[in-house]
Amino acid sequence: MSSPASAPPLWLRDNCPCPDCRDPRNGQKLFQITELPAGLAVDRVHEARTADGAPGREVVWAPDGHRSVYAESWLEAHLSVTRAAPGDGRTEDDKELWDATGIADRFPEAGWSAYASDPAVTAAALDSVMRLGFVLLRGVPVRDRQVLDVARTFGFVRETNYGELFEVRVEADPNNLAFTGARITPHTDNPYRDPVPTLQLLHCLTNAARGGDSGLVDGFHAAALLRAEDPEAYEVLTRVPVPFAFADGRTELRAHRPLIGTDPAGRIREIRFNNRSIGTLQQPAEVLDAFYAAYRRFGELLLRSELQLEFRLSPGDCLIFDNTRLLHARTAFAESGDRHLQGAYADIDGLASTLAVLRRKATSA
Ligand code: OGA
Ligand code: ZN
Ligand code: ZN
Repeated sequence: MSSPASAPPLWLRDNCPCPDCRDPRNGQKLFQITELPAGLAVDRVHEARTADGAPGREVVWAPDGHRSVYAESWLEAHLSVTRAAPGDGRTEDDKELWDATGIADRFPEAGWSAYASDPAVTAAALDSVMRLGFVLLRGVPVRDRQVLDVARTFGFVRETNYGELFEVRVEADPNNLAFTGARITPHTDNPYRDPVPTLQLLHCLTNAARGGDSGLVDGFHAAALLRAEDPEAYEVLTRVPVPFAFADGRTELRAHRPLIGTDPAGRIREIRFNNRSIGTLQQPAEVLDAFYAAYRRFGELLLRSELQLEFRLSPGDCLIFDNTRLLHARTAFAESGDRHLQGAYADIDGLASTLAVLRRKATSA
C-alpha cells in the first residue's frame, strides 16, 4: 500500500474523519475548501487506532498541527485507485448489455407477493433494473392506481402535466399517438423534459385486443453497436443537441439534448430517442446532413430484430424500466379491442437508494 505521505495533501485532508472536520451525527463536512491552510503538507505519519479501535495511521499536518486518523481499510481502498473515474452506476461500464436472444433465458421477473414481502426478492428485482434496465412484476393486483403503489415500493412518483399516472388506452381526441391503436416504434418517453423521467412503469389492466404486444431494446447496446459500426455517426449523435418538444392546450415543454448522452469519460450514459417529439433542428446545413444520416442509421439499428425483446403484457403485469437506457415499443392493435395500461414515472436515484439500503441491511443481518 502506498503511504499517506505520498497522497495529494488537499485530497487527504478533505477526507479527514475527525469530529472537528465532520459532524459525527451525520458525517457531513464542517469546513470549506477555502478554509484549509495554504502550503498544506503531511508532517509526520505514525500507526494509530481509529475511534472505534480499528488499525489506522495518524497524520500530523503542517503548518497547522491538525491530526487526522485514517483507517487502514480506508487507505487501502482509496490510495490504490489507478483507473480514472470509476463509474457512477449509470453508465455502460456498470451495466450488462443485452440483445433479444441474450436476455430471453434470463428474463428478469418476480411475483408480486414475493416482491412485496421478501426483501431478498425486492433487492433482486431492483438490481435487475440497475443492471439490465428492467424487471417484469407478475401478479400485481389489477386495480385502478395500483401502479402508484408499485412505484412507492422503491421510490417516489414523478408527477407531470399528465398527472400522477397516465392512462394508455384508445381516446377519442388523442393528444399523443400512444392513445390510439397505432404501432409505436422503439422510443424513450418524454425526452422533452428536463430532467427526463429516469424510470417508467407500465401496469397492464386489460389486454384483450388483437395486437398490442410489447417490445424492449437495450439502447446502450444499440449505441455501442453504432460506435463500433459507424464511429462518425455515433460521434455526431453524442454531440448535436436535438430540440425535443411537446405542446398541447395547457403545456409547452422543451429540452435540447443529444440522442446519445455520455459522461465526462465518454461512456454511454443516457439515450433519448422519440420520433414523435423531435422538433426542428436549427443548425448549418452540413450539421443537418450529418445528423440526419446518423439519426437514420441509429433508427435502423434500433429496429433490428435481434435487438428487440418481444413479449406480451397480461393483466397484472407491471413493467419497470430505465427510461434513460431502454427503448420501449408496441405493435398496432385493433382499436375496437379492449386494451388498458396505467403508466407512471419515477426516478432511478430513489430506486438505487432503496437497493443500497436493502443491501446494507442484508450485510449487517
Ligand atoms: C407510451 C407507450 C406502450 C404501450 O404510452 O408511451 O409507449 O404498450 N405505450 O402502449
Ligand atoms: Zn480533522
Ligand atoms: Zn412510451
